[in-house]
Amino acid sequence: MARSVSALGAFALLIALGTSAFPQAVPDPETDIVRLAGAIKPVVAKNGMVTTQDAIATRIGVTILEKGGNAVDAAVAVGFALAVTHPRAGNLGGGGFFVIWLAEKQQAVALDFREIAPAAINAKSFLDENGKPDISKATRTGLGVGVPGSVSGLATALEKFGSGKFTLEDLIAPAIKLARDGIPVESDLERSINFFQKTLLRWPSTAKIFAKDGAPLKQGDLLVQRDLANTLEAIAKNGPDAFYKGEIADKISLAVREAGGVMTSDDIAKYKTEILDVVRGNYRGYDILSMPPPSSGGALLVQLLNILEGFDFKGGPNAPHTLHLMVEAMKRAYADRAEFFGDPAFINVPLTRLTSKEYAAQLRAGINLAQTTPSSQIKAGLTPKKEGDNTTHFSVVDKDGNAVAATVTLNLNFGLGLVAEGTGVLLNNELDDFALAPGVPNAFGLVGGEANAPGPGKKPLSSMTPTILLKDGKVSLVTGSPGGSTIITTVLRVVSGVIDHKLNIADAVLLPRIHHQWMPDEVRAERAFERMMPPEQWIAFETYGHKVDFFRFNIGAANSILVTPEGITGVSDPRYLGTLAAGH
Ligand code: GLY
Repeated sequence: MARSVSALGAFALLIALGTSAFPQAVPDPETDIVRLAGAIKPVVAKNGMVTTQDAIATRIGVTILEKGGNAVDAAVAVGFALAVTHPRAGNLGGGGFFVIWLAEKQQAVALDFREIAPAAINAKSFLDENGKPDISKATRTGLGVGVPGSVSGLATALEKFGSGKFTLEDLIAPAIKLARDGIPVESDLERSINFFQKTLLRWPSTAKIFAKDGAPLKQGDLLVQRDLANTLEAIAKNGPDAFYKGEIADKISLAVREAGGVMTSDDIAKYKTEILDVVRGNYRGYDILSMPPPSSGGALLVQLLNILEGFDFKGGPNAPHTLHLMVEAMKRAYADRAEFFGDPAFINVPLTRLTSKEYAAQLRAGINLAQTTPSSQIKAGLTPKKEGDNTTHFSVVDKDGNAVAATVTLNLNFGLGLVAEGTGVLLNNELDDFALAPGVPNAFGLVGGEANAPGPGKKPLSSMTPTILLKDGKVSLVTGSPGGSTIITTVLRVVSGVIDHKLNIADAVLLPRIHHQWMPDEVRAERAFERMMPPEQWIAFETYGHKVDFFRFNIGAANSILVTPEGITGVSDPRYLGTLAAGH
């Protein structure tokens, strides 16, 4: 197994905690990407590659590939493993998306297993008695829990697109063992349990698992999840119905209602994964395959690339003019996100127009090459709302050129933090991704409108952007990221790094990240820029009129794979501890 542990503890530097522009941002060490740039080389393998945010999960995926499994088999095993080993985002109680490329059939599909609002949720569910949006209802009570989709999604992926060599039982077995035997609390697991102890320990059913003698588990402890092992075992033996019908579903709906929610067992029984067409685009000779609504990610990525295709980036990835153009494209695309995107089962998202080259040309023509356009002049009047960032992305490529780009989430770190008693299942707070009250400013940030209003049976809008690029009909790049609203711009930066700047995958992932989401009208940049670029370059960037907010945390975790003539190359994003890219 070729491998590289990408997060180097020696470079990890603890950050002071305090008020943050993103109050829910992941409190990881500021892994020093300036020092790592150039020091981390991609892992190279001949047959296949897995890269995830957790080393144990990566090894499980590679073992499945070594045994002859395809990329989907490996991704399903990784998905279940992450529910045990990476509980801040891997999950049974949340949802996610897969973008899958099937090489032999030359077929691309998107799997949508996003959480769904219970039937009793309505447009007023998240308002207080004065009609004002109450974020805490969505983030801190059972009202914010959507019907979980992950179990259905992973089982559907295997049934429809697996190699046929493995049963669900085979692929869940490693996760059951890890949950039952326990895993050492170290690295990212220790940091996240400690940092989010208030989220976890407020629920007695969760404290039983994640704390010992009233204190969060720490280095030297084992995280043992016996109830989760039993739940996984039931799914392994009896399929997803074991989760969606009967005792486990009853326990989940009861836990949600006891926490102030409205979910019923009937809501859970109705859950279904959807198989969708991918969003398609092309950029400088590469075909883009990405996630359609209910994610905004794929369409925005294509829109951004279409706008940027009309420019050249001769100055390099960090040149002031390159950054200016990227930011101007972002402002325009995120304004559209606010206006047009929501659950396509309820509204008509004008995807064809938004992803057309003609529309991009129109937007590009409005970009002033010398001066930023204030957001207020681009479009105005909707609700700023930041999104949760407890998500995780993993990428898989197999020996036959099949690929899976997978992003899964509980929304905020550990979701609601509530483990449904007797199930081991941590529940999401994904309904916070709805625009809680269109037109009313929301303390958490990104912009949302009527199109994304809460409603019964609706899916909240996502930014998750699992993406596969093809070159001449063959898989080239597999990428994606966590990071809420910054997911799309993180993916953009990786794609642009590889295509525009011809970087290897490690260097593309290590490019410092820059983000603008139209509202608020400010550029968010990783601190690495400050040290990587001479001060005069920043002054030059600010001369375009940009207001820069240096982000106190690193942005995203783009575990990515690039197929090259030298082999399948991969990197796990060193911005987090404990990540691993490995191949065979
Ligand atoms: N909860 C983050 C997202 O779906 O975009």
